[in-house]
Amino acid sequence: MRLDRFLSEMNIGTRAQVKTYVRQGLVAVNGITVKSPDVKIREDADHITFRGKLLSYQKYVYYMLNKPEGVVSATNDNTAETVVSLLGEDRRKDIFPVGRLDKDTTGLLLLTNDGELAHLLLSPKRHVDKTYQATVSHPLTPEDVSRLEQGVDIGEEHPTLPARVSVGAENTIFITVQEGKFHQIKRMLQAVDNSVLALKRITFGCLELDRTLKPGEYRALTDMETGRLRELVCPLWEKTGISTVPPYIQEDLNET
Ligand code: URA
Repeated sequence: MRLDRFLSEMNIGTRAQVKTYVRQGLVAVNGITVKSPDVKIREDADHITFRGKLLSYQKYVYYMLNKPEGVVSATNDNTAETVVSLLGEDRRKDIFPVGRLDKDTTGLLLLTNDGELAHLLLSPKRHVDKTYQATVSHPLTPEDVSRLEQGVDIGEEHPTLPARVSVGAENTIFITVQEGKFHQIKRMLQAVDNSVLALKRITFGCLELDRTLKPGEYRALTDMETGRLRELVCPLWEKTGISTVPPYIQEDLNET
C-alpha cells in the first residue's frame, strides 16, 4: 500500500494533508524519515510512526455502537449526523454500518469495514436473528402474538417469516425477527393494528448490546465476538482456518 493511502486510512488526515505531513518529515518507516508520500509500505509488517507515535494497522475493524435517536444509519448525509461520524478519531474512510436502523430507532448497530462479513450477516439466506425491544401503543392480545409469530402481511410479496414475541410490562414487547425489511417491526405492528412508539435493537446475531454503552457510545468488538459472528454466518472459516470464502458463500457474494 502507498504510504499516503495508509496514513489517510489511519485517519491522520485527507490524502492532500498526509502528503504535506510526509514532505514535512513527520513520518518514519522503520525508524527512517520518509519524504515521498507514494513510497510503498507493508502495512502489516512495517513500523510506521507519525510525529513519533506508532500507527498500528488493523485491516478490519468492528465496533458495536449504541445508536442514539436522530442519527442516520449512513456514511454520509447532508442533513443529519451519521452513525459513522460518532466514531470520532476511530472513523476510517472505509467504515460503514451493517444494515440500517431508522433515524428514530436506538440500540445495537455494528460498524465495520469488513464487506464480506457484513454481506453474510445481512444475507436473507442466513436468517440472522435480530431482537428489538418495542414500546407499543396498546397491549398485544394473544391472537396478535400468534399472528406475529406465524408471519404477517406487510405488503411484500411474501408474509414475514415467523417471529418470536414476548410481552413485557407496560406495553413493552420483545420481538425477534430473521429479516431486515424496511421499517419491518413498525410494519409488523401495523399489521396487527398497533403502532410502535419507541424501538431499540438489543441483539444482532450473537451480539448483545453492551449495557455499559450510553446512547452514542461505542466500543470495539472483542476477538471472541468477531469470531462468533464469523462462526454464525460461515462456520467453515473457523473450523478449517481457511480465510478464503467457500464456494457456497461465493454464490451469495456474486449475487450482489
Ligand atoms: N424495524 C423498524 O421498523 N425499524 C428499524 O429501525 C428496525 C427494524
